[in-house]
Amino acid sequence: MTFVVGENCIKCKHTDCVEVCPVDCFYEGPNFLVIHPDECIDCALCEPECPVDAIFSEDELPEDQEVFIELNSELAEVWPNITEKKDAPADAEEWDGVEGKLQHLER
Ligand code: SF4
Ligand code: F3S
Repeated sequence: MTFVVGENCIKCKHTDCVEVCPVDCFYEGPNFLVIHPDECIDCALCEPECPVDAIFSEDELPEDQEVFIELNSELAEVWPNITEKKDAPADAEEWDGVEGKLQHLER
Protein backbone atom coordinates (compact mmCIF):
# COMPACT_ATOMS: atom_id res chain seq x y z
CA MET A 1 0.00 0.00 0.00
CA THR A 2 1.13 3.54 -0.70
CA PHE A 3 -0.23 7.01 -1.12
CA VAL A 4 -0.62 8.36 -4.64
CA VAL A 5 -0.63 11.86 -6.10
CA GLY A 6 -3.59 12.15 -8.45
CA GLU A 7 -4.68 14.28 -11.36
CA ASN A 8 -5.65 17.46 -9.55
CA CYS A 9 -2.01 18.15 -8.63
CA ILE A 10 -1.20 18.77 -12.30
CA LYS A 11 -0.71 22.53 -12.84
CA CYS A 12 -1.66 23.21 -9.17
CA LYS A 13 1.45 21.84 -7.44
CA HIS A 14 1.10 23.62 -4.11
CA THR A 15 3.88 21.53 -2.50
CA ASP A 16 2.45 21.75 1.06
CA CYS A 17 2.64 17.95 1.02
CA VAL A 18 6.43 17.75 0.96
CA GLU A 19 6.82 19.65 4.23
CA VAL A 20 5.13 16.97 6.32
CA CYS A 21 6.49 13.78 4.79
CA PRO A 22 8.71 12.08 7.39
CA VAL A 23 10.58 10.03 4.79
CA ASP A 24 10.96 12.69 2.06
CA CYS A 25 9.47 10.53 -0.65
CA PHE A 26 8.08 13.25 -2.96
CA TYR A 27 9.63 13.81 -6.39
CA GLU A 28 9.10 16.86 -8.56
CA GLY A 29 8.42 17.27 -12.24
CA PRO A 30 7.72 20.48 -14.20
CA ASN A 31 4.06 20.72 -13.17
CA PHE A 32 3.29 17.69 -10.97
CA LEU A 33 4.62 15.83 -7.95
CA VAL A 34 4.72 12.09 -7.34
CA ILE A 35 5.21 9.80 -4.35
CA HIS A 36 7.75 6.99 -4.49
CA PRO A 37 5.68 3.90 -3.67
CA ASP A 38 8.59 1.95 -2.20
CA GLU A 39 9.56 4.78 0.15
CA CYS A 40 6.11 5.88 1.37
CA ILE A 41 5.37 4.51 4.85
CA ASP A 42 1.60 5.13 4.66
CA CYS A 43 1.60 7.63 7.49
CA ALA A 44 -1.24 9.62 5.82
CA LEU A 45 0.17 12.96 6.99
CA CYS A 46 0.32 14.44 3.50
CA GLU A 47 -3.28 13.73 2.47
CA PRO A 48 -4.98 16.53 4.48
CA GLU A 49 -2.21 19.01 3.66
CA CYS A 50 -3.02 19.23 -0.05
CA PRO A 51 -5.25 22.28 -0.62
CA VAL A 52 -6.74 20.72 -3.76
CA ASP A 53 -7.28 17.19 -2.39
CA ALA A 54 -4.95 15.57 -4.91
CA ILE A 55 -3.49 12.89 -2.61
CA PHE A 56 -5.16 9.52 -2.04
CA SER A 57 -4.42 6.29 -0.31
CA GLU A 58 -3.93 3.77 -3.10
CA ASP A 59 -7.07 1.88 -2.11
CA GLU A 60 -9.19 5.06 -2.14
CA LEU A 61 -7.97 6.37 -5.47
CA PRO A 62 -10.94 7.05 -7.78
CA GLU A 63 -11.21 4.34 -10.45
CA ASP A 64 -10.71 6.80 -13.27
CA GLN A 65 -7.33 7.79 -11.82
CA GLU A 66 -5.80 4.34 -11.57
CA VAL A 67 -3.25 5.27 -14.23
CA PHE A 68 -1.67 7.52 -11.60
CA ILE A 69 -0.45 4.50 -9.60
CA GLU A 70 1.88 3.60 -12.45
CA LEU A 71 2.75 7.24 -13.16
CA ASN A 72 3.83 7.85 -9.53
CA SER A 73 5.95 4.72 -9.61
CA GLU A 74 7.54 5.49 -12.97
CA LEU A 75 8.23 9.21 -12.51
CA ALA A 76 9.57 8.87 -8.93
CA GLU A 77 12.48 6.99 -10.48
CA VAL A 78 13.44 9.80 -12.83
CA TRP A 79 12.43 13.09 -11.18
CA PRO A 80 14.47 14.83 -8.42
CA ASN A 81 13.52 14.68 -4.76
CA ILE A 82 11.72 17.70 -3.25
CA THR A 83 11.64 18.39 0.50
CA GLU A 84 10.87 22.11 0.79
CA LYS A 85 7.72 23.97 -0.11
CA LYS A 86 7.90 26.43 -2.98
CA ASP A 87 5.42 28.86 -4.52
CA ALA A 88 2.61 27.31 -6.52
CA PRO A 89 2.19 28.40 -10.16
CA ALA A 90 0.54 31.83 -10.43
CA ASP A 91 -2.49 30.29 -12.15
CA ALA A 92 -2.82 27.30 -9.78
CA GLU A 93 -6.27 28.33 -8.54
CA GLU A 94 -7.66 28.46 -12.07
CA TRP A 95 -6.66 24.83 -12.61
CA ASP A 96 -8.16 23.43 -9.41
CA GLY A 97 -10.76 20.84 -10.37
CA VAL A 98 -10.35 21.19 -14.13
CA GLU A 99 -11.08 17.82 -15.74
CA GLY A 100 -8.77 16.06 -18.16
CA LYS A 101 -5.55 17.55 -16.81
CA LEU A 102 -3.55 14.43 -17.60
CA GLN A 103 -3.02 15.79 -21.12
CA HIS A 104 -1.13 18.72 -19.56
CA LEU A 105 1.33 16.57 -17.62
CA GLU A 106 4.87 17.65 -18.49
CA ARG A 107 7.71 15.19 -18.10
FE1 SF4 B 1 5.05 10.72 2.92
FE2 SF4 B 1 3.35 9.72 4.71
FE3 SF4 B 1 2.42 10.90 2.51
FE4 SF4 B 1 3.62 8.55 2.32
S1 SF4 B 1 1.69 8.97 3.37
S2 SF4 B 1 3.96 10.32 0.99
S3 SF4 B 1 5.18 8.70 3.91
S4 SF4 B 1 3.58 11.90 4.16
FE1 F3S C 1 0.34 18.59 -5.55
FE2 F3S C 1 -1.24 18.97 -3.49
FE3 F3S C 1 1.29 18.40 -3.10
S1 F3S C 1 -1.27 20.12 -5.38
S2 F3S C 1 2.27 19.30 -4.84
S3 F3S C 1 -0.21 17.09 -4.06
S4 F3S C 1 0.07 19.81 -1.91
